[in-house]
Amino acid sequence: MSTMEGRAVLLNASGEDARIEEVLVESPGPNEVMVKIVASGVCHTDLTVKHQHGMGMPFPIVLGHEGAGIVEQVGPDVTHLVPGDAVVIAYRAPCEQCPACRRGDPRHCYVALRPKLRIRRKSDGAVCSQVLRCGTFSTYTVVHSKAAIKMPTEMPLDKACLIACGVVTGVGAVLNTTPVFAGARIAVIGCGGVGLSVIQGAALAHARQIIAVDVNPVKLQWAKDFGATHVINAKDGDPVAQVRALTEDGYDGGVEFAFEATGIPSCIEQAVKMLAYGGTATTIGLPAADHSVNLNLGDMATGVYWNKAALRVCHAGDTLPSYDFPLLAQLYLQGKLNLDGMVTKKIGLEDVEKAFHEMETGNVIRSVIVM
Ligand SMILES: NC(=O)c1ccc[n+]([C@@H]2O[C@H](COP(=O)([O-])OP(=O)(O)OC[C@H]3O[C@@H](n4cnc5c(N)ncnc54)[C@H](O)[C@@H]3O)[C@@H](O)[C@H]2O)c1
Ligand SMILES: [Zn+2]
Ligand SMILES: [Zn+2]
Repeated sequence: MSTMEGRAVLLNASGEDARIEEVLVESPGPNEVMVKIVASGVCHTDLTVKHQHGMGMPFPIVLGHEGAGIVEQVGPDVTHLVPGDAVVIAYRAPCEQCPACRRGDPRHCYVALRPKLRIRRKSDGAVCSQVLRCGTFSTYTVVHSKAAIKMPTEMPLDKACLIACGVVTGVGAVLNTTPVFAGARIAVIGCGGVGLSVIQGAALAHARQIIAVDVNPVKLQWAKDFGATHVINAKDGDPVAQVRALTEDGYDGGVEFAFEATGIPSCIEQAVKMLAYGGTATTIGLPAADHSVNLNLGDMATGVYWNKAALRVCHAGDTLPSYDFPLLAQLYLQGKLNLDGMVTKKIGLEDVEKAFHEMETGNVIRSVIVM
């Protein structure tokens, strides 16, 4: 076992662009593994870390949290993985100690297992933070051994990486956070990598009506390809009214489940307002510290109280990675989960800033860094 030299995409300081730097990656300690990254998706959360000045993490920060690779070294005491194993890296591996884990409910773990920080910037030896305990925009990273989830050998890693965040979050929102019943009517606001995964989850759950809302017609076309039964362009008028019209049932319409996947507070309000009586809205998008929502309680026609509306928050699809990741890989291998269609572009480590730009302006589901 030895320190590895590598390259990583770092945020060096607040307000700066991400750039490639030489790094030194120390050998894994107890309960840690070093992973040679093969592929990593670029999720909107990495861009938010840049926009939100590191989101509380000390600089420099290794970006990336949607990664897959090959185990390079295992730390002392690690027996369930060996060098050469293909893995997807989970950012919410349950801690086994918090109140939720102790009561046998690891999907609602309060925290997640984390490794010691073992990546250093080569130029000055500065210890690097790792986005969501991962840091996958790097040739090598070190993660907690229980956060490295073994993949079947036939699983292509440039698709498997998407399971780590966008797919497990969207599909898990529907299957775990807010289980959708067969025959339900659902709406999803925002059809990026996460929202399209919500649509795939809703199709797996046999939702009757899957209504996709976005402001980009290309995303809406993709939403249809991924299983949406109806699409709404929010630029064509109030999406709440459009959803109610599409679901009219003699009770003013509405959906049993609405999922927000934009990170925009007004979209959370829309999700709640488009619910049928007793429905549940689930917010997935990452908020900024000053984001809040304004929901009327008492209006007899539309208030949250009288409509008996619920609001839930989804973190990574309430995932139990050791169970969910192999399941999602199996669904892909059986042709029931479309990951191929989610990889719009394969890019290099040097293209991360370009991928951020395209995420904001262009027609990309996922750019995937392939080493
Ligand atoms: N909670 C979690 O665990 C979790 C996990 C992954 C990502 N996220 C967050 O989820 C959000 C979505 O991530 P993503 O990678 O899919 O992002 P993305 O940028 O790929 O997709 C966002 C989509 O929202 C659409 N949109 C923008 N404004 C809209 C509006 N007013 N109405 C409807 N649609 C609109 C965009 O056109 C785009 O298609 C981000 O905020 C991300 O940080 C959260
Ligand atoms: Zn993500
Ligand atoms: Zn826990």
